[in-house]
Amino acid sequence: MAMLAQRGTATEPNDHAGRTLNLTLLVWRQKNAASAGKMVTYEARGISTDMSFLEMLDVVNEELIARGEEPIAFDNDCREGICGTCGFMINGVAHGPESGTTVCQLHMRHFKDGETITIEPWRARAFPVIKDLVVNRSAFDRIIQVGGYITAPTGGAQDANAILVPKADADAAFDYAACIGCGACVAMCPNASAALFTGAKISHLGHLPQGQPERDDRVIRMVEQMDAEGFGSCTNIGECAAVCPKEIPLDVISFMNRDLLRATRRKDREAKTSNE
Ligand code: SF4
Ligand code: FES
Repeated sequence: MAMLAQRGTATEPNDHAGRTLNLTLLVWRQKNAASAGKMVTYEARGISTDMSFLEMLDVVNEELIARGEEPIAFDNDCREGICGTCGFMINGVAHGPESGTTVCQLHMRHFKDGETITIEPWRARAFPVIKDLVVNRSAFDRIIQVGGYITAPTGGAQDANAILVPKADADAAFDYAACIGCGACVAMCPNASAALFTGAKISHLGHLPQGQPERDDRVIRMVEQMDAEGFGSCTNIGECAAVCPKEIPLDVISFMNRDLLRATRRKDREAKTSNE
C-alpha cells in the first residue's frame, strides 16, 4: 500500500522564531504551456523564519527582477488560506509539510537552515501547466458549472429559519463547504482523481434541504464531467485527504458514490417504466 504523505501539525513549537535561513531552491521553470520545462536552482539568502513560503518567493523574485531575469510565476490571492488560488508541490507534498495548511499560510520556521527545497507545479493531465508553478484549474469550474449549485427563485431574502436544517446536517454541510478548490487532492493522488473535490461539493449540497430537488441530476452530471475532464478514478489510497488544507474527509467520496448509485438506479427504473 502506498505511504500517505507525511505532514506535521501546525502547533509544533516555534523554536526558529526570529531567525534567518539560507536555502537552496530547485524550482520548476516553464515559459508557457507549449514549451518544455526544467528545474532551475536558486539561492535564497537571509530568509526570515517569520515569513510565509510565498513571502520567501517574493524575496527571490525581487532579486530575479533586479538582475533582469523573469520572476517565478505562482498563483496567489488572499494569502489567508481561504481563496484556494495558491498551491504547488514542496518536496513532493502538495502544500508542503504542515497539515491543514495552504502554501500561503506555511511559514519558513518549518524549514531548516541550509535545506534544499524542491518546488514544482501540480502534475495532472486535467491541470495543464500555464507557466512555472501556475496550472489551469478550469476543469474544476466546469464540474461546478454542471451541478454544484441549487436552483431557487430570487426575490426578497427569506427569514433565516424559514427552512429548518437539523444541526448535524448543517454542521456537516458547513464542513464540506470548506473545500476551497485548490486542487491539492488531485495533485497528490497517484491517479490524479478529483473525487475528494467533487465529493465535497456533492456532500455539501446533499446535506441541505435546498439541495434535495436536484440531488440525483447533480451527482450524475458532476461525475460525468469529472470523468470527461480526464481526472483518474479513485482507488481509495487516501493521499487526497492527507494533504487537503481544509481536512475534507474521505467520507465525502462514499457519499458521492452512494448518491450516484441511487441516482442511476432511479433513472434506469424510470427509463424502463416509460418504455413499457
Ligand atoms: S478537497 Fe481539499 S485539497 Fe481538494 S480542492 Fe478541496 S480543499 Fe483543495
Ligand atoms: S492565496 Fe488564497 S488560499 Fe492561498
